[in-house]
Amino acid sequence: MSADPYTDRTVLTTEAYADPTRLTARYSLYRHRTPPVDLAAIAAGLLPDAAGPVLDIGCGPGGYTAALRRQSPPSWSGPSAGPRERPHRTVIAADLSFGMVSVAGRPGFVADVTALPVADRSCGAVLAMHMLYHATDPEAGVRELARVVAPGGTVLISTNDAEDKARLYQLCADATAEVPDAPPWDRAVNRRFGLAGAQEVAGRYFASVERIDLPGEVVLTEPGPAVAFAASTRSWQPGDPFSRVLDRVRDRVAAVIAAEGAFRFGTHPGILVCR
Ligand SMILES: C[S@@+](CC[C@H](N)C(=O)[O-])C[C@H]1O[C@@H](n2cnc3c(N)ncnc32)[C@H](O)[C@@H]1O
Repeated sequence: MSADPYTDRTVLTTEAYADPTRLTARYSLYRHRTPPVDLAAIAAGLLPDAAGPVLDIGCGPGGYTAALRRQSPPSWSGPSAGPRERPHRTVIAADLSFGMVSVAGRPGFVADVTALPVADRSCGAVLAMHMLYHATDPEAGVRELARVVAPGGTVLISTNDAEDKARLYQLCADATAEVPDAPPWDRAVNRRFGLAGAQEVAGRYFASVERIDLPGEVVLTEPGPAVAFAASTRSWQPGDPFSRVLDRVRDRVAAVIAAEGAFRFGTHPGILVCR
């Protein structure tokens, strides 16, 4: 394993993202978000005119891929195709993990965002949604996105603000500190490639970078979703006492709910629209 489990290829492809199980558990937290936000629908709405292939790199189980494919008509749709249909668009799923590509469906391939097996200027649009923080060199990934997008095309990059879920992470850190021998809780994901840093890097490769902030609040009235979220980060929080860490997370969230009626914390994803 490399020093950083967030970018270690083996950890990512055989544990964290071997299949959608942990990611799906992590995303279940957002069922308790207000206002609700459908990032995949927003992304699809930002690409109404993307012609030619759309590449979804780091596709995961294919939430964005599916939303974009829904905008494409089936091949038998014929001349009566409606105005929202995109007969020439192919949406390609790509991910470091074969387990994810196989769920996202064809066409798809296994690839690393820092070395895309894709011709220069060949994609009508490219998505890199909540994935560049796992790249060994996120800027090399952004450079690749800029290389493969066609002139006039759009690249969408999503990530979280550095303060995303700060109260939840602090609770997890405090819970971890209570467990003897547990390594400190690692908040590396938001800090590696947060919205502000991503915006700065994207500005080096694109003439225009529009930032769309989508802040909200998660409100939990029982500890289960917070514990499931913490458990889903297992690959990045090594150490035998992890189950005890999860017990402490449950206790602390329950205590907040008892005192405040709910455990509330801010969440803050965003999308960069790069052209
Ligand atoms: C947090 S998930 C996001 C999935 C999806 N884009 C979404 O937003 O729902 C990160 C995904 O990026 C993939 N990934 C991690 N490092 C990668 C890399 N260097 N190149 C391509 N994909 C990568 C993981 O396998 C995982 O499926």
